[in-house]
Amino acid sequence: MADDWNMPEGELMKGRRGVIMGVANQNSIAWGIARQLAAQGAELAFTYQGEALERRVRPLVESLGMNTMIPADVSDDASMDAAFAAIADKWGSIDFLVHSIAFAGKEELQGSMVENTTRDGFARAMEISVYSFIDACRRGAQLMPDGGSIMCMTYLGAERVVPSYNVMGVAKAGLEAATRYAARDLGPKGIRVNAISAGAMRTLSLAGIRGGKSLMSTGRDWSLLKDDTQMEGVAGCALYLLSPLGQSIAGEVIHVDAGFHAVGVPETGE
Ligand SMILES: NC(=O)c1ccc[n+]([C@@H]2O[C@H](COP(=O)([O-])OP(=O)(O)OC[C@H]3O[C@@H](n4cnc5c(N)ncnc54)[C@H](O)[C@@H]3O)[C@@H](O)[C@H]2O)c1
Repeated sequence: MADDWNMPEGELMKGRRGVIMGVANQNSIAWGIARQLAAQGAELAFTYQGEALERRVRPLVESLGMNTMIPADVSDDASMDAAFAAIADKWGSIDFLVHSIAFAGKEELQGSMVENTTRDGFARAMEISVYSFIDACRRGAQLMPDGGSIMCMTYLGAERVVPSYNVMGVAKAGLEAATRYAARDLGPKGIRVNAISAGAMRTLSLAGIRGGKSLMSTGRDWSLLKDDTQMEGVAGCALYLLSPLGQSIAGEVIHVDAGFHAVGVPETGE
């Protein structure tokens, strides 16, 4: 992400509080979203995976003039209980929640899905990448008595075959279905649940996928805009979904990928 990233500042999120789950470093999608929300006046609490990440995440959070950081390993109920109890203690209620978390083993993110997906690897990918969102929806909704907005991050590998994406594509398909069912359950409470399907972006997660760089270059070269997916676009869409601008939108998966998802056959120039 460029240091000179210019975000539209304003007060769209003034007086609104929310939880950002999934900042690991300055390249994390959750961090781009957090910056945009902060630039519009939101107050944020950050959950992070564990002590090992604190050194990287703390200076980022402090650069926004904020300091609410809570460790939360989504695969550990006690850790999630403590994290959401801390958020409830601090604020009582929240207005939005961003889930930007996924995991699959490196050995699973290459070659043949049929050969490389183990029982344990499948369970872990589904637990961390899908169940954790359902869990976050339940816990987040308990803190949204006046309604709110919840979102997660997905990828085209849920809908189409993408090299090496394998079990994560299966998990993302589950995540997109979970988004729709959560939107059904929480909609009557005034809570909107949606997902952003981002194009490939240079983050820690992408580095774990064999051939991740070519997912980025193909995503750019074949896209309608002939451009990389920009963090500003993802963050702007998140602001839209989490703010009053996104009212009446629920159970939706919005592609922010320079139009890559719409391409059936790429131009060859012939
Ligand atoms: N980078 C891309 O190309 C791309 C494209 C579309 C969607 N996404 C999705 O965006 C989301 C964020 O990924 P990113 O690309 O910003 O990478 P990232 O590595 O910066 O973020 C992934 C986050 O998941 C967290 N996480 C993993 N296991 C966890 C656990 N047990 N408990 C708590 N947190 C845990 C990590 O700490 C990290 O903060 C993921 O859902 C990813 O699948 C990424």
